[in-house]
Order: sequence, then C-alpha cells, then structure tokens
Amino acid sequence: MHIDLVTIFPELVHPHLEASLLGKAIQNGSISVRVHDLREKGRGKHRSVDDAPFGGGAGMVMRPEPIFETVEPLKRAESYTVLLSPRGTLFRHEVAQRLSRLDHLILVCGRYEGVDERVAEHLCDEEVSIGDFVLAGGEIAALVIVEAVTRLLPGVLGNPTSLHSESHAAGALEYPQYTRPAEYRGWSVPDVLLSGDHAEVARWRRERSEELTATRRPDLVQE
Ligand code: ADE
Repeated sequence: MHIDLVTIFPELVHPHLEASLLGKAIQNGSISVRVHDLREKGRGKHRSVDDAPFGGGAGMVMRPEPIFETVEPLKRAESYTVLLSPRGTLFRHEVAQRLSRLDHLILVCGRYEGVDERVAEHLCDEEVSIGDFVLAGGEIAALVIVEAVTRLLPGVLGNPTSLHSESHAAGALEYPQYTRPAEYRGWSVPDVLLSGDHAEVARWRRERSEELTATRRPDLVQE
C-alpha cells in the first residue's frame, strides 16, 4: 500500500513516520508514505495557500488551486482520496479495514477555518473525521488513519492474532490484561489467569469483555 499525505506542515508529520510501528512498517516495505508540502504550489512570494471567505466571516479558507495542483498529479486509476475534516464520516474500525484494502490512499489535510468546498466536491472521494471535536488541522487526524490502517496490513504486527482480540476488532472492548509481577503493591492478578485452565481463562476474558462493553460502550452492544 502507498499513502500520499498532503499538508502545509510536513514537519509535524515526519517524526511520527520515523518511530515505532510506523517507522518499522515503512522500513520493511509493508507500506510507503510520501509527504507533500502544499506550499510548493502556494501563490505569490509568500506561497500563500489561503484567503478570506467569500460572503464574509471570520478566519481564512484554504484555496483550491494548491490542493488540486498537488493532488491531481498523484492520482492513478486505483487512487482513493480522503479529505480530513470534522464533518466527515466517523473513523471507526470498519473504516480502517476498508481503507487498509486500498492500494493507494491520498490523505489531504485541511487547516485554518475550512477548505474551499470544490476540493471536497470535485477532488476527494470521501471526507473523514476522527471524532466529534475540532482540531487545528487534519495532520494529526491523518496520522491516526495512517497508524490504524498500517496495523491492519499483513506482516506489520509481530503477532497478528492480537488483531482478533483487541478492542473493536470483534465489535467489543478488549478484556483486561496483566503481566508480572503477580502481586504489585498488594494488588493481585485475578487467580483464573494463573490457573493454567485455558477454557476458564477464555470464559473469564469473554465475560470481562462483555461487561466492559456494556458499561462503557452500550452503543456497541447488539440487541
Ligand atoms: N480537522 C479538524 N478537526 C478534525 C477532525 N475531528 N477529524 C479530522 N480532521 C479534522
């Protein structure tokens, strides 16, 4: 899979692509990511990428030309272009799975108070939001998507079975996990996990998972 990430703040994005799971996935070729600086297509000597909104109002709006001129040359027949925006489809596990099946994803980060509507209408296939809150821009949202999608790609996780039990994979929250020491500051690990009885462990985990999902995320519980 290849991802092109379009932003006016490449310096915000680069460090996250170099460390940990993402850094390794890029190094071993599971995924490739290129970051494109929108300012290279900015207008005038200040490489301006924004302007005042037609019709008046506060703030600035990102102009369409730098975005079109950056994204269009990247597009191929199999490309899918996403605009990060607080009014987009809510990014959930199912969306991550859907995007992880693509060969080429283009992520366009908005900034300022908005992006000229012609970008969403004529350049992008979908708008995606990472939650019901407003960020200063789409960069962190784009990185959230890159990381969540990369974890789902074959060969990225050391132990891919962890994909099955983790929160949201099965439409439920994950059960609590413990490691050594078996007792810490007087807090003990549940006995069943030390029992060696795999069936009992599986039952305990299933029950805790159902309990957690029902109390914290009743919206995920199917009737
Ligand atoms: N840009 C600003 N807020 C955002 C959000 N919640 N999701 C995606 N992109 C955004």
